[in-house]
Amino acid sequence: MNTTLLTGIGELTTNTAAPGDPCGTLPDAAVLIEGDRIAWVGAAVDAPTATTVIDAGGRAVIPGFVDSHSHLVFAGDRAAEFEARMAGRPYTAGGIRSTVAATRAATDDELRARLNGFVAELLAQGTTTVEIKSGYGLSVADEERLVRLAAEVTPEVTFLGAHVVPTEYTDRADAYVDLVVGPMLDACAPFSRWIDVFCETGAFTVAQSRRVLEAGIARGLAPRVHASQLGPGDGVRLAVELGAASIDHGTYLTEADVTALAVSDTVLTLLPGVEFSTRQPYPDARRLLDAGVTVALACDTNPGSSFTSSMPFCIAIAVRDMGLTPAEAVWAATAGGALALRRDDIGAIAPGRRADLVLLDAPTRIHLAYRPGVPLVDRVWKDGVLRFTAR
Ligand code: NIG
Ligand code: FE
Repeated sequence: MNTTLLTGIGELTTNTAAPGDPCGTLPDAAVLIEGDRIAWVGAAVDAPTATTVIDAGGRAVIPGFVDSHSHLVFAGDRAAEFEARMAGRPYTAGGIRSTVAATRAATDDELRARLNGFVAELLAQGTTTVEIKSGYGLSVADEERLVRLAAEVTPEVTFLGAHVVPTEYTDRADAYVDLVVGPMLDACAPFSRWIDVFCETGAFTVAQSRRVLEAGIARGLAPRVHASQLGPGDGVRLAVELGAASIDHGTYLTEADVTALAVSDTVLTLLPGVEFSTRQPYPDARRLLDAGVTVALACDTNPGSSFTSSMPFCIAIAVRDMGLTPAEAVWAATAGGALALRRDDIGAIAPGRRADLVLLDAPTRIHLAYRPGVPLVDRVWKDGVLRFTAR
């Protein structure tokens, strides 16, 4: 079998546990890729021979980013809504309905072309695994096509029929939930791994959210929850009770939420692009880590609350404004994302893991936060295949 040795790595982030170093860093390192997997990791001087040798030139290598929260299947954009927000108008969940109208009017080919463009955009910024949610269809046929299209590009597909109540069900939210847990779930479950709900004022109540999640669980889907984005609520408690892999947003967490998360297996996925784009306060990630909560970082790429696809941008915010060290932020964007997706084959550079690697045009991962907005991703391997080269 052909093998590739990536050597001359100045700083290798392995994410294999080391006391006081969440990234398990190795200096002067090399990685051997065999097929789609990592076969060997160690000091460059001890490296085995390989068919192909690539010299990293002393630069940094990190695991591919695991972006565990996105909404990439949609049409249109909401630039005017963003402009109004920057002028002082608050973000509300209601804007989702304008994207629903645009998405319903788009053909499969139009949605697919946009989706493929986003996936390429993510890859060029170092993301090798992305979770994709439905939620801009909100009818049986439209939600089915969103999860079907998402399944063309990732195994991490989430059915989010309970994103908001669509216009045609205004004042009939419970009837809409009946549709979601009945025919819509029937149509979408075959394409999905996850069930999600937006548990928030303006979207779904805790009781409605519980119905949605329990129906999904009964169909073999695993739960994850949007909660505490616009204000405190009981979504975190529900997520922990149902053993959700992740609660996402967590902009407004109570002490009880933090305590519940700290003793649970539920990851808290922070989405700094949302606070940036909605002018809400950044959560204090330092407090969360110190309390023992497992934190992931994700982009939440969507046309309303966070239209960035850049994990480096989210890392920079997490370091600058949320109190994470660069090492903690990179860990949260790689190993943290893998935990939020309950995956043990990605998120670290170790023998047996998928060969998902990013070569940075920088001597250290610290540059991801230190040089915000600068495209530092030089090369990306996914499943052992070189999929992106900057120049
Ligand atoms: O994760 N919170 C709900 N859903 C998206 C926003 C969707 C939109 O505004 O279009 C989110 O932020
Ligand atoms: Fe979201």
